[in-house]
Amino acid sequence: MPSAAPTLWSPFKIGPIELKHRIVMAPLTRNRATKNDKAERTWVPNDLMCEYYSERATDGGLLISEAVPVSLVASGMLGVAGMWLPEQVQGWKKVTDSIHAKGGKVFAQLWHQGRNSHSTVSGVQPVSSSDVPITDSPHAWAGLPTEPFEVPHALTVEEIAATQDDFARCALAAVTEAGFDGVEIHAANGYIFDQFHHSNINTRTDQYGGSIEGRTLFTRETIAKISAAIGADRLGVRLAPFGYFNQTRGEHRVEQCTWLCTELSKLGLAYVHLIEPRFDEIKSENEKLASLGQEVASEEVSLKPFRAALGSTPVIAAGGYNADNADEGLAAGEHDLIAMGRYFCSNADLVDRLRTGKPLYRYNRARFYGPFKQNEIGYTVHPEQLGENVPMPLGD
Ligand SMILES: Cc1cc2nc3c(=O)[nH]c(=O)nc-3n(C[C@H](O)[C@H](O)[C@H](O)COP(=O)(O)O)c2cc1C
Repeated sequence: MPSAAPTLWSPFKIGPIELKHRIVMAPLTRNRATKNDKAERTWVPNDLMCEYYSERATDGGLLISEAVPVSLVASGMLGVAGMWLPEQVQGWKKVTDSIHAKGGKVFAQLWHQGRNSHSTVSGVQPVSSSDVPITDSPHAWAGLPTEPFEVPHALTVEEIAATQDDFARCALAAVTEAGFDGVEIHAANGYIFDQFHHSNINTRTDQYGGSIEGRTLFTRETIAKISAAIGADRLGVRLAPFGYFNQTRGEHRVEQCTWLCTELSKLGLAYVHLIEPRFDEIKSENEKLASLGQEVASEEVSLKPFRAALGSTPVIAAGGYNADNADEGLAAGEHDLIAMGRYFCSNADLVDRLRTGKPLYRYNRARFYGPFKQNEIGYTVHPEQLGENVPMPLGD
């Protein structure tokens, strides 16, 4: 008898981890960490973050943490806890304990902002594949002056190896000390990996540029180092094949990502996490799809080629999922799990709401990214959901 098509409520296994449903909390940077009094310019996880994550954890459900910088030079925002100092690792352990207490599973998303960082945050010149800055927008975040992005330092081959080692070290600390069930590398949205992937950013003429194989080498080598440290079945990889964020406009998107996915299919990874073409940080769904249609053949504007290239590697799809469309692609076998981001911000009990058909609360963009004086508002406390007509706190 053919087995029934999967639904949101079908169990699934990634690596050694048994999941009881298919709804994943997408990585969400919320900038609510506490300043570290032991080291300048660094931040540590706190009790508020434990509360936030534990509220969103469900028995047998997977959460992916907010993006976690692997070093100081990797960091470009305030209020974001990294994981390279002992006190950061200890702070994350409290977060993972609070998730595990609810029966939840959690992967740490490891992050390096590359040229998207700024010396006002890290204290040092940002780095990237090449000395090509972001020119289409300024560096503008809460608590910081709005400034143009800086010209990054192009990493030498030795510095590339050291950066990859930062990822591997952080991954090892994540699973052996901080209690994470695995790690995901943030190879999407225009950060360091994408800065190697995209030909409009990566102008290198050595082995790390110049071709599909070259532009993906940084990513593939980092994956190999992390896999050697913690096992490939504890490693996920997030990719945005159609992303525009942080001026990612490289050529041969579909061909390159398909080739990369074919390589990834050989590694026994926990999963590959793909962002849907329709999602964009700035453009509406229609604008984004229209724009992509001019760039690549319209029949290619889909995650299908990557799913096919990945073979049996589990696929998480994210971007634009809601109560109405959450289970569409699962039954059709287009992916194995879906991740939701913005609705998890405003619905701590999102999984229960989807299960019972209760309506979802709308999200409040103004409270996405801290730090705020009252960090809990729009994070663990949602005044508008309590029916209170509370204006945004003054001074935030
Ligand atoms: C407040 C906020 C923070 C985000 N932070 C991250 C992040 O740290 N890492 C990441 O890969 N994506 C990040 N994203 C993107 C989400 O993970 C997700 O891909 C996107 O919101 C689309 O999913 P959605 O339509 O369900 O919101 C963020 C999105 C939002 C709204």
